[in-house]
Amino acid sequence: MNLDPRLEVFTKHRTVRKYKAQPLEDGHLEQILYCAQHAPTDATAQMYSFIRLSGDTKIKIAELTKNAHIASAPEAFLICADVHRLQLLLEHKGYEFGSWSAVAIHFGIGDAVLAGQTMLHAAECLGYQGCWIGGVLSALEDIVDLCQLPHGVLPFAGLTIGIPDEAPNQRPRIQPELVLHENTYRIASASELETALNRMASITARGDWAQSLARYFAKGGTMETREISLKAVLEQQGFTHVENSTNALFARAEAAGYPEILIRRKAEGFQAWVDRPDRAHGGEGAAPQAALEQAVLEAERDSSS
Ligand SMILES: Cc1cc2nc3c(=O)[nH]c(=O)nc-3n(C[C@H](O)[C@H](O)[C@H](O)COP(=O)(O)O)c2cc1C
Repeated sequence: MNLDPRLEVFTKHRTVRKYKAQPLEDGHLEQILYCAQHAPTDATAQMYSFIRLSGDTKIKIAELTKNAHIASAPEAFLICADVHRLQLLLEHKGYEFGSWSAVAIHFGIGDAVLAGQTMLHAAECLGYQGCWIGGVLSALEDIVDLCQLPHGVLPFAGLTIGIPDEAPNQRPRIQPELVLHENTYRIASASELETALNRMASITARGDWAQSLARYFAKGGTMETREISLKAVLEQQGFTHVENSTNALFARAEAAGYPEILIRRKAEGFQAWVDRPDRAHGGEGAAPQAALEQAVLEAERDSSS
């Protein structure tokens, strides 16, 4: 690919896991942080935090995530979704915090990824290299404890930065036609899938990308284990619909003074009603729970007005 010279920095990106034992140049970290903080942020809310790791904590996190290079990287961070600070800001001004745990995942992870990748890109512009560490998912509960992350803060990944002490080749990507769709989603053909697998073959020593993906994502792969702990930590840190389980929605409707509930299937989706003798509130949704949640929200608004 012939890239415009202005895009040259993008050809320099390599995930690097070996670093020289030299700190970042004076003033560089502040500048990298300045760039990261100027990444776009949804609703101006800045729902992310960076935890800079040092000393024993850094070593422990290298062990917990099984990414030894965290310990030897001059700089290492946890890149976290953070709705805790937003809650503090609102409560500080007397507002009651809303109930939007699924939206919190969307905003928090989106903001964290944008800021984290901007941090890495800024570092790369200064000649450093780094590595994202999804390995945090292997030890989420321990990391939350170790770094004392409050309710509303969820580590997305780690990120290391340093002066590279290895020079890996640029790693391949699947063909662009598979990632760029026009207006509607185009499903890849079998021969395109084969091409993608061939393009990616060199990413593993055995030349078998599918086998490497399968170790993570196929039945019995590591992601099934991660799924269990991620769900537990999502719940613990307040990023799930647990409070919107059907039982909880019944309880909320009752607490708002609506003891009767009706849910029915419509031609498309579901409709729910919460009733009391003098009035009712309805909601619609693709799933019964979504319809009920909307009805309960209306009932709660009504009973608090
Ligand atoms: C979210 C995320 C998590 C990752 N987690 C790890 C990790 O835990 N350990 C690691 O060594 N590399 C990790 N990587 C690096 C990828 O393996 C690397 O980006 C990929 O192989 C492509 O190589 P490249 O970045 O040099 O193009 C991660 C990358 C991303 C974006």
